[in-house]
Amino acid sequence: MKILVTGGAGFIGCNFIYYMLNKYPDYEIVCLDALTYAGNLKSLSVAVANPKFKFVKGSISDKDFVDRLFKSESFDIVVNFAAESHVDRSIENPFIFLETNIMGTACLLEASKKYGVKRYHQVSTDEVYGDLPLDRPDIFFTEKTNLSASSPYSASKASADLLTLAYHRTYGLPVTISRCSNNYGPYQFPEKLIPLMIMKALADESLPVYGNGLNVRDWLYVEDHCRAIDLIIHNGKVGEIYNVGGHNERRNIDVVKTVLGHLSKPESLITYVKDRAGHDLRYAIDPEKISSQLGWEPETCFDEGMKKTVEWYLENQKWVDDIKSGEYAEYARRIYGDS
Ligand code: NAD
Ligand code: TYD
Repeated sequence: MKILVTGGAGFIGCNFIYYMLNKYPDYEIVCLDALTYAGNLKSLSVAVANPKFKFVKGSISDKDFVDRLFKSESFDIVVNFAAESHVDRSIENPFIFLETNIMGTACLLEASKKYGVKRYHQVSTDEVYGDLPLDRPDIFFTEKTNLSASSPYSASKASADLLTLAYHRTYGLPVTISRCSNNYGPYQFPEKLIPLMIMKALADESLPVYGNGLNVRDWLYVEDHCRAIDLIIHNGKVGEIYNVGGHNERRNIDVVKTVLGHLSKPESLITYVKDRAGHDLRYAIDPEKISSQLGWEPETCFDEGMKKTVEWYLENQKWVDDIKSGEYAEYARRIYGDS
């Protein structure tokens, strides 16, 4: 079995590569990644030493390059993680999101069709459903919830989902889609809420909470997401969408306080800042389908996952420091006015 993992130098992709190399020592894994600011080859340093693993640098939206890669490698399965993934950046500059998330997906779908890939899996997000009201904790996103994206990021992901389904309906490409809630865990780029707050708290810097901090996200430990994708690519039904989430809704302010608690830092570090434009209020997944049809259940509870995550960042300060010195430093100056 040969699997192409795109975006494998990013947060979830690299966790997935380690999960798969460990679980299926006979599988060959090829990682295609453009190494944007969010991609870090150092995250894959252990995988690179494995003879079953190969890294290829390139963009999923380079159609000719993608075509040549598919021709020479004959992939059985494609799992597309590659994306521009940060909502705030999509508000600043939507166009790279359209290029990578929509056109990039189109290039992968086209090559998958041309070279007879047996399964194309699109890693999507619950953000394609828009948001839920804060005063209706009884309602959740199901696979039948209408697409209603709020940000350029989520609109680009929703477009990619539609294109993926169109390749199934029109050309019979064997596709599946997973729509997961917010992930956290090792190797997450520290522009996203949890690693950003860990990083800032460790440096005794103020923790920027958008708006009133009452927006709700549904958090899942990254390994549980990897296991869900593994189940879907092996046992999922072609043409189907699977929501992935573990009923773990938290208000942002409570997540930030949890981080401070783990690091024994004072809540006085919290600073309320200007709200995000179009800020989604609440995400909450109904995982009934993947649970009943594929037997998936989350294995890591929030307390344990946060403990493991904070420990990982404490033990891997060099990984964070390397990132902080690059393009991210410039971005952080623009967004947060960091010096
Ligand atoms: P990430 O930003 O950490 O990583 C993205 C990776 O894609 C990086 O390695 C980057 O270099 C690579 N990439 C970007 N543009 C590329 C291009 N044109 N060609 C090849 N590679 C390119 O993102 P993540 O958090 O790991 O998310 C991975 C996927 O999971 C995304 O598709 C995202 O929409 C989806 N997702 C993320 C979450 C989450 O909470 N992080 C939740 C649900 C779904
Ligand atoms: P984020 O990690 O960017 O994920 P997403 O927007 O895709 O859910 O943000 C999670 C939540 O945390 C979101 O409601 C925005 C909020 N947030 C802050 O309050 N401060 C920050 O500095 C960041 C990055 C996010």
